[in-house]
Amino acid sequence: MKKVHIKSFGCQMNVYDGQRMADILSHQGYEETATPEGADLILLNTCHIRDRAVQKVYSELGKLRDIKNAQKAEGQETKIVVAGCVAQAEGAEIQHRQPAVDLVVGPQAYHRLPELLAEAARKRVVDTDLPIEDKFGFLPAPKPQVIRARGVSAFVTVQEGCDKFCAFCVVPYTRGAEFSRPVAQVLAEVERLAEAGVRDVTLIGQNVNAYHGEGPDGAVWGLARLMRRVAEVPGIARIRYTTSHPRDMDDDLIAAHRDLPQAMPFLHLPVQAGSDRMLAAMNRKHTGDEYRRLIERIRSARPDIALSSDFIVGFPGETDADFEDTIRLVDEIGFASSYSFKYSQRPGTPAAELDAQVPREVMDERLYRLQERIEHHRQAFNAAMVGRTVDVLLERAGRHPGQLAGKSPYLQAVQIEGGTNQIGDIVQVTIDRISTNSLFGQMVEAGQTAGKDMAA
Ligand code: 5AD
Ligand code: SF4
Repeated sequence: MKKVHIKSFGCQMNVYDGQRMADILSHQGYEETATPEGADLILLNTCHIRDRAVQKVYSELGKLRDIKNAQKAEGQETKIVVAGCVAQAEGAEIQHRQPAVDLVVGPQAYHRLPELLAEAARKRVVDTDLPIEDKFGFLPAPKPQVIRARGVSAFVTVQEGCDKFCAFCVVPYTRGAEFSRPVAQVLAEVERLAEAGVRDVTLIGQNVNAYHGEGPDGAVWGLARLMRRVAEVPGIARIRYTTSHPRDMDDDLIAAHRDLPQAMPFLHLPVQAGSDRMLAAMNRKHTGDEYRRLIERIRSARPDIALSSDFIVGFPGETDADFEDTIRLVDEIGFASSYSFKYSQRPGTPAAELDAQVPREVMDERLYRLQERIEHHRQAFNAAMVGRTVDVLLERAGRHPGQLAGKSPYLQAVQIEGGTNQIGDIVQVTIDRISTNSLFGQMVEAGQTAGKDMAA
Protein backbone atom coordinates (compact mmCIF):
# COMPACT_ATOMS: atom_id res chain seq x y z
CA MET A 1 0.00 0.00 0.00
CA LYS A 2 1.11 3.56 -0.72
CA LYS A 3 0.81 6.03 2.14
CA VAL A 4 -1.08 9.33 2.24
CA HIS A 5 -0.91 11.91 5.00
CA ILE A 6 -3.87 14.32 5.09
CA LYS A 7 -3.86 17.43 7.25
CA SER A 8 -6.99 19.55 7.40
CA PHE A 9 -7.06 23.14 8.63
CA GLY A 10 -10.09 25.29 9.43
CA CYS A 11 -13.74 24.31 9.54
CA GLN A 12 -15.70 21.08 9.88
CA MET A 13 -16.34 20.97 6.16
CA ASN A 14 -12.60 20.60 5.63
CA VAL A 15 -12.64 17.64 8.04
CA TYR A 16 -15.46 16.14 5.97
CA ASP A 17 -13.69 16.84 2.65
CA GLY A 18 -10.45 15.38 4.08
CA GLN A 19 -12.30 12.14 4.83
CA ARG A 20 -13.83 12.07 1.35
CA MET A 21 -10.36 12.51 -0.19
CA ALA A 22 -9.10 9.65 2.02
CA ASP A 23 -12.00 7.52 0.72
CA ILE A 24 -11.13 8.33 -2.91
CA LEU A 25 -7.45 7.60 -2.36
CA SER A 26 -8.15 4.31 -0.56
CA HIS A 27 -9.56 3.11 -3.91
CA GLN A 28 -6.25 4.13 -5.49
CA GLY A 29 -4.25 1.93 -3.12
CA TYR A 30 -3.40 4.52 -0.47
CA GLU A 31 -3.72 4.02 3.27
CA GLU A 32 -3.71 6.93 5.69
CA THR A 33 -0.71 7.65 7.85
CA ALA A 34 -0.59 9.97 10.84
CA THR A 35 2.69 11.71 9.98
CA PRO A 36 4.05 13.31 6.80
CA GLU A 37 7.39 11.51 7.18
CA GLY A 38 7.39 8.38 5.06
CA ALA A 39 4.24 9.36 3.11
CA ASP A 40 4.16 9.03 -0.69
CA LEU A 41 1.47 11.68 -0.88
CA ILE A 42 1.02 14.62 1.46
CA LEU A 43 -2.22 16.55 1.20
CA LEU A 44 -2.88 19.87 2.92
CA ASN A 45 -6.56 20.72 3.06
CA THR A 46 -6.39 24.46 3.61
CA CYS A 47 -8.39 27.37 5.03
CA HIS A 48 -8.52 30.91 3.59
CA ILE A 49 -10.88 32.53 6.08
CA ARG A 50 -8.26 34.68 7.87
CA ASP A 51 -4.76 35.76 6.92
CA ARG A 52 -3.22 33.78 9.78
CA ALA A 53 -4.75 30.56 8.49
CA VAL A 54 -3.14 31.22 5.09
CA GLN A 55 0.27 31.99 6.62
CA LYS A 56 0.10 28.67 8.48
CA VAL A 57 -0.30 26.86 5.17
CA TYR A 58 2.81 28.45 3.67
CA SER A 59 4.93 27.75 6.72
CA GLU A 60 3.69 24.15 6.71
CA LEU A 61 4.58 23.87 3.00
CA GLY A 62 8.16 24.95 3.77
CA LYS A 63 8.47 22.02 6.20
CA LEU A 64 6.94 19.61 3.69
CA ARG A 65 9.41 20.68 0.99
CA ASP A 66 12.24 19.69 3.36
CA ILE A 67 10.64 16.29 3.95
CA LYS A 68 10.15 15.83 0.19
CA ASN A 69 13.84 16.65 -0.47
CA ALA A 70 15.07 14.39 2.35
CA GLN A 71 12.93 11.50 1.05
CA LYS A 72 14.16 12.10 -2.50
CA ALA A 73 17.74 11.73 -1.27
CA GLU A 74 16.69 8.31 0.09
CA GLY A 75 15.12 7.40 -3.27
CA GLN A 76 11.45 7.96 -2.31
CA GLU A 77 9.22 10.15 -4.49
CA THR A 78 6.83 12.39 -2.53
CA LYS A 79 3.93 14.30 -4.06
CA ILE A 80 2.57 17.40 -2.31
CA VAL A 81 -1.06 18.40 -2.90
CA VAL A 82 -2.71 21.62 -1.73
CA ALA A 83 -6.51 21.32 -1.53
CA GLY A 84 -9.22 23.44 0.11
CA CYS A 85 -9.93 27.14 0.07
CA VAL A 86 -6.37 28.48 -0.27
CA ALA A 87 -6.07 26.28 -3.37
CA GLN A 88 -9.27 27.83 -4.71
CA ALA A 89 -8.29 31.42 -3.92
CA GLU A 90 -4.62 31.39 -4.88
CA GLY A 91 -4.43 28.70 -7.58
CA ALA A 92 -1.12 28.66 -9.45
CA GLU A 93 0.28 31.38 -7.16
CA ILE A 94 0.84 28.60 -4.58
CA GLN A 95 3.30 26.86 -6.89
CA HIS A 96 5.08 30.15 -7.56
CA ARG A 97 5.57 30.65 -3.84
CA GLN A 98 6.35 27.00 -3.12
CA PRO A 99 7.59 25.10 -6.20
CA ALA A 100 7.63 21.78 -4.29
CA VAL A 101 3.82 21.66 -4.67
CA ASP A 102 2.79 19.18 -7.39
CA LEU A 103 -0.97 19.66 -7.48
CA VAL A 104 -3.42 22.41 -6.48
CA VAL A 105 -7.03 21.25 -6.30
CA GLY A 106 -10.03 23.33 -5.22
CA PRO A 107 -12.90 22.21 -2.97
CA GLN A 108 -15.25 21.58 -5.90
CA ALA A 109 -12.78 19.56 -7.97
CA TYR A 110 -11.31 16.99 -5.57
CA HIS A 111 -13.47 14.16 -6.88
CA ARG A 112 -11.10 14.26 -9.88
CA LEU A 113 -8.05 13.51 -7.66
CA PRO A 114 -7.16 10.20 -9.39
CA GLU A 115 -6.89 11.79 -12.87
CA LEU A 116 -5.21 14.89 -11.48
CA LEU A 117 -2.59 12.83 -9.64
CA ALA A 118 -1.84 10.89 -12.82
CA GLU A 119 -1.38 14.19 -14.65
CA ALA A 120 0.73 15.58 -11.79
CA ALA A 121 3.17 12.71 -12.28
CA ARG A 122 4.23 14.52 -15.49
CA LYS A 123 3.79 18.22 -14.72
CA ARG A 124 2.47 20.67 -12.18
CA VAL A 125 -1.34 20.80 -12.18
CA VAL A 126 -3.98 23.28 -10.99
CA ASP A 127 -7.74 22.53 -10.97
CA THR A 128 -9.92 25.17 -9.36
CA ASP A 129 -13.12 24.77 -11.35
CA LEU A 130 -16.23 25.73 -9.47
CA PRO A 131 -19.18 23.36 -9.91
CA ILE A 132 -20.13 22.41 -13.39
CA GLU A 133 -20.97 18.94 -12.18
CA ASP A 134 -22.06 17.66 -8.78
CA LYS A 135 -18.90 16.31 -7.16
CA PHE A 136 -20.97 14.36 -4.61
CA GLY A 137 -22.21 12.06 -7.35
CA PHE A 138 -18.60 10.96 -7.93
CA LEU A 139 -17.52 10.28 -4.35
CA PRO A 140 -17.06 6.65 -3.31
CA ALA A 141 -18.66 5.41 -0.07
CA PRO A 142 -16.33 4.65 2.83
CA LYS A 143 -16.16 1.03 4.01
CA PRO A 144 -18.06 0.18 7.24
CA GLN A 145 -14.83 -0.46 9.14
CA VAL A 146 -13.52 2.97 8.07
CA ILE A 147 -16.74 4.61 9.29
CA ARG A 148 -16.45 2.74 12.61
CA ALA A 149 -12.85 3.87 13.08
CA ARG A 150 -13.99 7.49 12.63
CA GLY A 151 -16.38 7.22 15.58
CA VAL A 152 -20.08 7.38 16.46
CA SER A 153 -20.46 11.07 15.57
CA ALA A 154 -20.17 12.11 11.94
CA PHE A 155 -20.47 15.17 9.72
CA VAL A 156 -22.57 15.07 6.58
CA THR A 157 -22.32 17.92 4.07
CA VAL A 158 -25.83 18.82 2.92
CA GLN A 159 -25.16 22.30 1.54
CA GLU A 160 -22.16 24.18 0.23
CA GLY A 161 -21.35 27.73 -0.71
CA CYS A 162 -22.92 31.00 0.31
CA ASP A 163 -24.96 33.73 -1.40
CA LYS A 164 -24.98 36.16 1.54
CA PHE A 165 -21.77 38.10 0.75
CA CYS A 166 -20.93 39.44 4.19
CA ALA A 167 -18.44 42.23 3.46
CA PHE A 168 -15.52 40.55 5.29
CA CYS A 169 -15.92 36.99 4.06
CA VAL A 170 -14.12 35.00 1.36
CA VAL A 171 -16.51 32.03 1.44
CA PRO A 172 -18.76 33.09 -1.47
CA TYR A 173 -15.60 33.28 -3.61
CA THR A 174 -13.79 30.14 -2.40
CA ARG A 175 -16.74 27.75 -2.07
CA GLY A 176 -18.95 29.32 -4.70
CA ALA A 177 -22.71 29.83 -4.87
CA GLU A 178 -25.18 28.00 -2.63
CA PHE A 179 -25.78 24.42 -3.60
CA SER A 180 -27.97 21.87 -1.74
CA ARG A 181 -27.53 18.12 -2.11
CA PRO A 182 -30.70 16.24 -3.04
CA VAL A 183 -32.51 14.64 -0.08
CA ALA A 184 -32.09 11.08 -1.41
CA GLN A 185 -28.33 11.49 -1.63
CA VAL A 186 -28.09 12.83 1.93
CA LEU A 187 -30.30 10.02 3.21
CA ALA A 188 -28.25 7.32 1.49
CA GLU A 189 -25.14 8.68 3.19
CA VAL A 190 -26.80 8.92 6.62
CA GLU A 191 -28.19 5.38 6.28
CA ARG A 192 -24.75 4.01 5.48
CA LEU A 193 -23.26 5.81 8.47
CA ALA A 194 -26.03 4.58 10.78
CA GLU A 195 -25.63 0.98 9.60
CA ALA A 196 -21.96 1.20 10.62
CA GLY A 197 -22.88 2.46 14.10
CA VAL A 198 -23.06 6.26 13.81
CA ARG A 199 -25.61 7.70 16.29
CA ASP A 200 -25.01 11.42 15.99
CA VAL A 201 -24.94 13.42 12.74
CA THR A 202 -24.14 17.06 12.21
CA LEU A 203 -25.52 18.33 8.93
CA ILE A 204 -22.99 20.83 7.65
CA GLY A 205 -22.95 23.67 5.16
CA GLN A 206 -21.52 27.20 4.98
CA ASN A 207 -25.09 28.44 5.26
CA VAL A 208 -26.81 25.21 6.20
CA ASN A 209 -30.18 26.59 7.23
CA ALA A 210 -30.59 27.97 3.71
CA TYR A 211 -30.76 24.30 2.64
CA HIS A 212 -33.22 23.84 -0.22
CA GLY A 213 -32.63 20.39 -1.64
CA GLU A 214 -34.73 18.48 -4.09
CA GLY A 215 -36.95 15.99 -2.25
CA PRO A 216 -37.88 12.51 -3.48
CA ASP A 217 -41.35 13.95 -4.19
CA GLY A 218 -39.85 16.53 -6.56
CA ALA A 219 -40.62 19.38 -4.13
CA VAL A 220 -37.97 21.61 -2.59
CA TRP A 221 -37.28 20.58 1.02
CA GLY A 222 -36.02 22.95 3.70
CA LEU A 223 -33.64 21.96 6.48
CA ALA A 224 -36.41 21.20 9.02
CA ARG A 225 -38.05 18.73 6.66
CA LEU A 226 -34.70 17.12 5.93
CA MET A 227 -34.03 16.80 9.68
CA ARG A 228 -37.39 15.15 10.28
CA ARG A 229 -36.60 12.60 7.59
CA VAL A 230 -33.04 12.00 8.86
CA ALA A 231 -34.54 11.41 12.33
CA GLU A 232 -36.42 8.42 10.90
CA VAL A 233 -33.19 6.63 9.95
CA PRO A 234 -32.83 3.72 12.42
CA GLY A 235 -29.95 4.30 14.85
CA ILE A 236 -29.76 8.09 14.43
CA ALA A 237 -30.39 9.51 17.90
CA ARG A 238 -28.96 13.00 17.61
CA ILE A 239 -29.05 15.66 14.90
CA ARG A 240 -27.31 19.03 14.83
CA TYR A 241 -26.57 21.44 12.02
CA THR A 242 -24.01 24.14 11.43
CA THR A 243 -23.36 26.95 10.37
CA SER A 244 -26.52 29.00 10.18
CA HIS A 245 -27.44 32.54 9.21
CA PRO A 246 -30.01 34.40 11.36
CA ARG A 247 -31.98 35.42 8.27
CA ASP A 248 -32.61 31.77 7.36
CA MET A 249 -33.99 30.63 10.76
CA ASP A 250 -37.57 30.03 9.59
CA ASP A 251 -40.60 29.01 11.69
CA ASP A 252 -40.41 25.40 10.53
CA LEU A 253 -36.82 25.08 11.74
CA ILE A 254 -37.62 26.70 15.09
CA ALA A 255 -40.58 24.29 15.44
CA ALA A 256 -38.23 21.34 14.78
CA HIS A 257 -36.27 22.37 17.89
CA ARG A 258 -39.53 22.08 19.84
CA ASP A 259 -40.97 18.94 18.28
CA LEU A 260 -38.14 16.70 17.15
CA PRO A 261 -36.56 14.66 19.98
CA GLN A 262 -33.43 14.05 17.87
CA ALA A 263 -32.87 17.80 17.35
CA MET A 264 -30.21 18.57 19.92
CA PRO A 265 -30.61 21.69 22.06
CA PHE A 266 -27.53 23.36 20.64
CA LEU A 267 -27.44 26.04 17.98
CA HIS A 268 -24.48 27.86 16.46
CA LEU A 269 -25.97 31.08 15.12
CA PRO A 270 -23.30 33.68 14.39
CA VAL A 271 -24.23 37.30 15.02
CA GLN A 272 -20.70 38.74 14.40
CA ALA A 273 -21.28 42.06 16.20
CA GLY A 274 -23.78 43.95 18.37
CA SER A 275 -23.77 47.38 16.74
CA ASP A 276 -26.37 48.03 14.04
CA ARG A 277 -23.95 50.37 12.28
CA MET A 278 -21.34 47.60 12.09
CA LEU A 279 -23.91 44.94 11.14
CA ALA A 280 -25.02 47.14 8.24
CA ALA A 281 -21.42 47.80 7.16
CA MET A 282 -20.81 44.04 7.32
CA ASN A 283 -23.86 43.48 5.07
CA ARG A 284 -25.27 41.03 7.64
CA LYS A 285 -28.91 41.76 6.71
CA HIS A 286 -30.07 41.82 10.35
CA THR A 287 -29.91 44.22 13.31
CA GLY A 288 -28.99 43.49 16.92
CA ASP A 289 -32.64 43.64 18.00
CA GLU A 290 -33.76 41.36 15.18
CA TYR A 291 -31.22 38.85 16.42
CA ARG A 292 -32.45 39.26 20.03
CA ARG A 293 -36.06 38.70 18.98
CA LEU A 294 -35.06 35.64 17.01
CA ILE A 295 -33.28 34.22 20.05
CA GLU A 296 -36.44 34.83 22.12
CA ARG A 297 -38.49 32.85 19.62
CA ILE A 298 -35.97 30.00 19.59
CA ARG A 299 -35.84 29.96 23.38
CA SER A 300 -39.60 29.88 23.69
CA ALA A 301 -39.60 26.80 21.43
CA ARG A 302 -36.73 25.14 23.29
CA PRO A 303 -36.02 26.92 26.63
CA ASP A 304 -32.86 24.97 27.51
CA ILE A 305 -31.14 25.51 24.13
CA ALA A 306 -27.40 26.24 24.27
CA LEU A 307 -26.50 29.07 21.92
CA SER A 308 -23.19 29.83 20.35
CA SER A 309 -21.92 32.54 18.01
CA ASP A 310 -18.98 33.90 16.07
CA PHE A 311 -17.76 37.46 16.65
CA ILE A 312 -15.45 39.75 14.75
CA VAL A 313 -13.78 42.65 16.58
CA GLY A 314 -12.18 45.58 14.79
CA PHE A 315 -14.21 45.55 11.58
CA PRO A 316 -13.24 48.76 9.68
CA GLY A 317 -14.77 51.81 11.35
CA GLU A 318 -15.65 50.04 14.62
CA THR A 319 -15.64 52.61 17.45
CA ASP A 320 -15.47 51.99 21.20
CA ALA A 321 -19.23 52.59 21.34
CA ASP A 322 -19.85 49.99 18.60
CA PHE A 323 -17.72 47.50 20.48
CA GLU A 324 -19.65 48.17 23.71
CA ASP A 325 -22.81 47.16 21.80
CA THR A 326 -21.18 43.78 21.14
CA ILE A 327 -20.33 43.34 24.84
CA ARG A 328 -23.90 44.30 25.77
CA LEU A 329 -25.35 41.74 23.38
CA VAL A 330 -23.03 39.02 24.69
CA ASP A 331 -24.09 39.78 28.29
CA GLU A 332 -27.78 39.88 27.38
CA ILE A 333 -27.88 36.61 25.46
CA GLY A 334 -25.46 34.61 27.61
CA PHE A 335 -23.98 32.30 24.99
CA ALA A 336 -22.95 28.80 26.11
CA SER A 337 -19.79 29.16 23.99
CA SER A 338 -18.50 31.32 21.17
CA TYR A 339 -15.65 31.91 18.77
CA SER A 340 -14.16 35.37 18.41
CA PHE A 341 -11.68 36.75 15.93
CA LYS A 342 -9.80 39.91 15.08
CA TYR A 343 -10.93 41.26 11.73
CA SER A 344 -8.59 40.10 8.98
CA GLN A 345 -8.43 41.99 5.70
CA ARG A 346 -9.15 39.50 2.90
CA PRO A 347 -8.18 40.28 -0.68
CA GLY A 348 -11.16 40.53 -3.02
CA THR A 349 -13.76 41.20 -0.30
CA PRO A 350 -15.59 44.56 -0.17
CA ALA A 351 -14.38 45.31 3.39
CA ALA A 352 -10.75 45.09 2.31
CA GLU A 353 -11.28 48.33 0.35
CA LEU A 354 -12.66 50.26 3.33
CA ASP A 355 -10.71 53.07 4.98
CA ALA A 356 -10.67 53.32 8.76
CA GLN A 357 -9.00 49.98 9.41
CA VAL A 358 -8.78 49.59 13.21
CA PRO A 359 -5.26 49.62 14.73
CA ARG A 360 -3.90 46.26 15.86
CA GLU A 361 -3.50 47.28 19.56
CA VAL A 362 -7.15 48.32 19.68
CA MET A 363 -8.22 44.99 18.19
CA ASP A 364 -6.04 43.11 20.69
CA GLU A 365 -7.59 44.93 23.60
CA ARG A 366 -11.16 44.43 22.34
CA LEU A 367 -10.61 40.75 21.65
CA TYR A 368 -9.21 40.26 25.15
CA ARG A 369 -12.24 41.91 26.75
CA LEU A 370 -14.72 40.06 24.56
CA GLN A 371 -13.11 36.70 25.27
CA GLU A 372 -13.25 37.39 28.99
CA ARG A 373 -17.04 37.93 28.76
CA ILE A 374 -17.54 34.88 26.50
CA GLU A 375 -15.56 32.71 28.94
CA HIS A 376 -17.55 34.06 31.88
CA HIS A 377 -20.83 33.00 30.25
CA ARG A 378 -19.43 29.64 29.14
CA GLN A 379 -18.36 28.84 32.68
CA ALA A 380 -21.75 29.95 34.03
CA PHE A 381 -23.54 27.70 31.53
CA ASN A 382 -21.35 24.73 32.49
CA ALA A 383 -21.62 25.43 36.24
CA ALA A 384 -25.43 25.33 35.98
CA MET A 385 -25.12 21.68 34.88
CA VAL A 386 -23.84 20.52 38.28
CA GLY A 387 -26.50 18.39 39.96
CA ARG A 388 -28.42 17.86 36.70
CA THR A 389 -28.85 14.48 35.03
CA VAL A 390 -28.31 14.55 31.25
CA ASP A 391 -28.17 12.06 28.39
CA VAL A 392 -24.61 11.42 27.30
CA LEU A 393 -23.59 9.74 24.06
CA LEU A 394 -20.55 7.58 24.81
CA GLU A 395 -17.88 8.34 22.21
CA ARG A 396 -14.56 6.90 23.39
CA ALA A 397 -12.48 5.64 26.29
CA GLY A 398 -11.88 8.40 28.85
CA ARG A 399 -8.66 10.02 29.97
CA HIS A 400 -8.14 7.60 32.84
CA PRO A 401 -8.73 3.84 33.12
CA GLY A 402 -12.36 3.04 33.95
CA GLN A 403 -13.56 6.35 32.47
CA LEU A 404 -15.61 6.86 29.33
CA ALA A 405 -15.85 10.14 27.43
CA GLY A 406 -18.94 11.43 25.68
CA LYS A 407 -21.04 14.44 24.75
CA SER A 408 -23.98 16.06 26.49
CA PRO A 409 -26.95 17.23 24.40
CA TYR A 410 -25.43 20.74 24.71
CA LEU A 411 -22.19 19.61 23.00
CA GLN A 412 -20.19 19.61 26.24
CA ALA A 413 -17.43 17.04 26.76
CA VAL A 414 -18.33 14.71 29.65
CA GLN A 415 -16.02 12.31 31.50
CA ILE A 416 -17.91 9.47 33.17
CA GLU A 417 -16.91 7.13 35.97
CA GLY A 418 -17.91 3.49 35.94
CA GLY A 419 -20.32 1.42 33.90
CA THR A 420 -19.64 -1.23 31.30
CA ASN A 421 -21.65 0.41 28.58
CA GLN A 422 -20.53 0.44 25.00
CA ILE A 423 -19.31 3.27 22.84
CA GLY A 424 -22.41 4.45 20.96
CA ASP A 425 -24.81 3.97 23.90
CA ILE A 426 -26.68 6.92 25.31
CA VAL A 427 -26.68 6.84 29.10
CA GLN A 428 -27.95 9.09 31.85
CA VAL A 429 -25.24 10.84 33.80
CA THR A 430 -25.54 13.01 36.88
CA ILE A 431 -23.02 15.83 36.66
CA ASP A 432 -21.11 16.32 39.89
CA ARG A 433 -18.32 18.72 38.96
CA ILE A 434 -16.81 20.72 36.11
CA SER A 435 -13.30 21.66 35.03
CA THR A 436 -12.31 24.33 32.51
CA ASN A 437 -13.17 22.19 29.51
CA SER A 438 -15.15 19.16 30.73
CA LEU A 439 -18.05 18.03 32.88
CA PHE A 440 -17.61 15.03 35.18
CA GLY A 441 -20.34 12.70 36.34
CA GLN A 442 -21.62 9.31 37.42
CA MET A 443 -23.75 7.04 35.32
CA VAL A 444 -27.22 6.62 36.81
CA GLU A 445 -28.79 4.26 34.36
CA ALA A 446 -27.28 1.84 31.90
CA GLY A 447 -28.67 2.81 28.49
CA GLN A 448 -29.06 -0.04 26.04
CA THR A 449 -27.44 -2.68 28.25
CA ALA A 450 -30.23 -2.00 30.71
CA GLY A 451 -29.93 -2.67 34.36
CA LYS A 452 -26.44 -3.94 34.93
CA ASP A 453 -23.32 -2.43 36.42
CA MET A 454 -24.77 0.80 37.57
CA ALA A 455 -22.18 3.12 38.97
CA ALA A 456 -22.44 3.71 42.69
N1 5AD B 1 -11.80 38.29 9.56
C1 5AD B 1 -12.07 37.76 10.77
N2 5AD B 1 -12.97 36.79 10.97
C2 5AD B 1 -13.63 36.33 9.89
N3 5AD B 1 -14.59 35.40 9.77
C3 5AD B 1 -14.93 35.28 8.47
N4 5AD B 1 -14.21 36.15 7.74
C4 5AD B 1 -13.40 36.83 8.60
C5 5AD B 1 -12.44 37.86 8.46
N5 5AD B 1 -12.17 38.40 7.27
C6 5AD B 1 -15.15 34.69 10.91
C7 5AD B 1 -16.64 34.95 11.03
C8 5AD B 1 -17.26 33.67 10.57
C9 5AD B 1 -16.21 32.67 11.02
C10 5AD B 1 -16.28 31.35 10.37
O1 5AD B 1 -14.99 33.29 10.73
O2 5AD B 1 -16.93 35.21 12.39
O3 5AD B 1 -18.52 33.42 11.14
FE1 SF4 C 1 -19.31 34.23 5.04
FE2 SF4 C 1 -21.15 33.14 6.66
FE3 SF4 C 1 -21.52 35.65 5.72
FE4 SF4 C 1 -21.74 33.53 4.05
S1 SF4 C 1 -23.06 34.05 5.85
S2 SF4 C 1 -20.64 35.43 3.62
S3 SF4 C 1 -20.13 32.15 4.89
S4 SF4 C 1 -19.89 34.89 7.14
